[in-house]
Amino acid sequence: MAKVKIKFVCNECGTESPKWMGKCPGCGAWNSMTEEAEAVTKAPVGRSETLRTKEKPASIIHIESGREPRISTGLEELNRVLGGGLVPGSLMLVGGDPGIGKSTLLLQASNSLASQGLKVLYVSGEESVRQTKLRADRLGTLSEKLFVLCETNLDFIEEAVASLEPDFLVIDSIQTVYRPDVASAPGSVAQVRECTAQFMRVSKINGVATVLVGHVTKEGAIAGPRLLEHMVDCVLYFEGERHHSYRLLRAVKNRFGSTNEIGIFDMTEDGLREVANPSELFLSERPLGVAGSCVAASMEGTRPVLVELQALVAPTSFPSPRRMCSGLDHHRISLVIAVLEKRMGLFLQNQDAYVNVAGGVRLEEPAADLAAAVSLASSFRDLPTKPYDVVFGEVGLTGEVRAVSRAEMRVKEALKLGFKRVILPEMSLKGWSPPAGIQLIPVKTVAEALKAALE
Ligand code: TYD
Ligand code: MG
Repeated sequence: MAKVKIKFVCNECGTESPKWMGKCPGCGAWNSMTEEAEAVTKAPVGRSETLRTKEKPASIIHIESGREPRISTGLEELNRVLGGGLVPGSLMLVGGDPGIGKSTLLLQASNSLASQGLKVLYVSGEESVRQTKLRADRLGTLSEKLFVLCETNLDFIEEAVASLEPDFLVIDSIQTVYRPDVASAPGSVAQVRECTAQFMRVSKINGVATVLVGHVTKEGAIAGPRLLEHMVDCVLYFEGERHHSYRLLRAVKNRFGSTNEIGIFDMTEDGLREVANPSELFLSERPLGVAGSCVAASMEGTRPVLVELQALVAPTSFPSPRRMCSGLDHHRISLVIAVLEKRMGLFLQNQDAYVNVAGGVRLEEPAADLAAAVSLASSFRDLPTKPYDVVFGEVGLTGEVRAVSRAEMRVKEALKLGFKRVILPEMSLKGWSPPAGIQLIPVKTVAEALKAALE
């Protein structure tokens, strides 16, 4: 009898090794190598040789460009993240923690596509057809063009695709699907990799836009979708905090569009609701005229978003004070605190400082620095900020306020939401004329900004 060949594969990065190792030589993860039998019939991975005719190299100027045709999903926020809509024949991966709402999002998109007259196949390997139906009922009117299949065997799924010929295919989730000829458990690196390669072929041959749902696990017990990121056209992450109802959809890779855009949804009793005006949502619980609260104008992709930054500075009872922040970069807050101490003379060494972005949003931009400085100083001095102020700007190490991009859009968003003043870097005023109805306060240093905001 032929001996079954065994290899060890890292769950985190997919590195293979003939021997077990405690530490993966590829990514350095500990205890991530699992035993796997080699695939019996090795399918060509990641390459679709069978469906191509032999091609000759062509000069780039002779290649027709033309825009990719797009199918609107009916969900504007999803379209935005995809770069305008679905591209036929593309393969997408939607990752996210369990329970964040991936199935809900895709079922809603499926239903909306089906009601436009497209044929949609939703394959669920996690829930029964009836459970899917129960969920779908909560989401509203259903279309008869939406087909549901509860199946995990890849061969049967392929058969269903071939007979139904859908325009849009959802596999929920890739970790539950298996190829019978691969001798590993569903969810293992080998299965996930082989199945994804197969779905890539299916989607390219049939021209069907395919979405794979992938779970991200902390322990890496199941092969995470990280391994698949370079195989697919588009990687979206659906994230949010469990205790907040809104969810952000982010693209981390997109062959057909930008990766800066985010989509914002609100999880309600009857499904996800699109949030067209996120600033209103993020500012809805803002207390007015209190110390330590400041509104920042941040850019999320091409969209300006106003969010509330809160700070609390209080005497510490520890030898070294606590610095906590959520929703912001820890290093940038340390920098802002150091600038306030050294340049502004705020004595913060015996004070705990907590900084929080209200509503669970994450601000990655340095443009939030100045708002953090204002809210920290406001809390420390116990001086309330003005409820009609918006602040943005990057803080430099000498206490200067540096220019940030797209100042005009941020100012217009502030105007739209009824704010009266914007404190912004002087250098950001170049190249555009301010709109009427809002007062701009250009500042060069943190000191000037604090004076304008607090006095
Ligand atoms: P689900 O889409 O099943 O998450 P995932 O597929 O990412 O694991 O969403 C699960 C959560 O969403 C669950 O906690 C219930 C909640 N939910 C609502 O609040 N409203 C709804 O209409 C639906 C369908 C789910
Ligand atoms: Mg699910």
